[in-house]
Amino acid sequence: MARREKRLMGEARGIVWRLINIKAIISLFLSRKNKRNIHNPENDLELALYNSLLGNNYLHYGYFADSQIKAEDISLNLLKKSMDDYASLLVSRVKEGEEIIEVGCGMGGLLARFDKQGNRVVGVTPNLSQVRHIAKYWPHIQIYNNMFEELDCDNVGQFDVVINSESFQYIDIKRGIEQVDKLLKQNGRWIMSDYFVINKETHNRSGHIFTEFESAINKAGFVIVEKIDITDNILPTLKYAHLLASNLAIPLADFTAKKFFLRHPFFEYLFAPVVENKLANIRLDTIDADIFKRDKIYLLMTIRRK
Ligand SMILES: C[S@@+](CC[C@H](N)C(=O)[O-])C[C@H]1O[C@@H](n2cnc3c(N)ncnc32)[C@H](O)[C@@H]1O
Repeated sequence: MARREKRLMGEARGIVWRLINIKAIISLFLSRKNKRNIHNPENDLELALYNSLLGNNYLHYGYFADSQIKAEDISLNLLKKSMDDYASLLVSRVKEGEEIIEVGCGMGGLLARFDKQGNRVVGVTPNLSQVRHIAKYWPHIQIYNNMFEELDCDNVGQFDVVINSESFQYIDIKRGIEQVDKLLKQNGRWIMSDYFVINKETHNRSGHIFTEFESAINKAGFVIVEKIDITDNILPTLKYAHLLASNLAIPLADFTAKKFFLRHPFFEYLFAPVVENKLANIRLDTIDADIFKRDKIYLLMTIRRK
């Protein structure tokens, strides 16, 4: 038998074996289903991709002072600068020497900025690979490897400032506020930058509903003393991501699939309709700037005890 035929037979046997291995199929589906039920940052492929593309240790949307900039005029360098500018918005709200805890500290980019400014800073993240990354580059910064809801705040100490940079959306509102209350010194500030849902009918439900968040903090004895709507300033990032996805990533995936099927007719016979259908139906709603502006608001806030 020719080498090519042998290889095709091997591939076919592999597929048939996997199709009839019911136990493996069920356990794969169950494990995926369970992981979908909770936010599992270890599997956050979008964030990992974001970081490997940019490599600047930030995992947030960035801030474009020129909110009218066109997606076509954005470069990777401009995007990186926007992320640094976003960090500056937070860093400028903290005085040198103040003690800080950053909840949901990602890859440590913001921690490093506070550290450079002369603040004692500690971080919290449930993601072990982020903890290891930070330990490698900034070994002197202490990181708690916890879900914020489960952090033993009584043994962590108290801080002048609690920071949440695009991380409170993952945290239970009530439990999160209770934890912040334990961590803040009497005159402490809670600085938060994140997006919230303003249209409850939205299909993309990421983010807390703003009215629910606001009433929970009021009930817990906190008040928003500064509230800046930066939605327009983060939208260029979404427009840029949309441009890259529709003009580069999807056409490239289509090309790669077609090229692969040309070389592997057996796979084409089995999977081409499914793959073509998937590619034709990819929805980019989560990175659609108009949908985001309709359904969400991105806020930079300072919150204090009443
Ligand atoms: C979008 S990233 C933001 C990272 C960083 N603050 C920044 O601005 O670059 C969200 C972060 O929140 C963390 N996170 C998710 N769920 C969390 C939870 N329940 N408690 C604490 N952190 C959480 C993720 O691991 C990640 O580090």
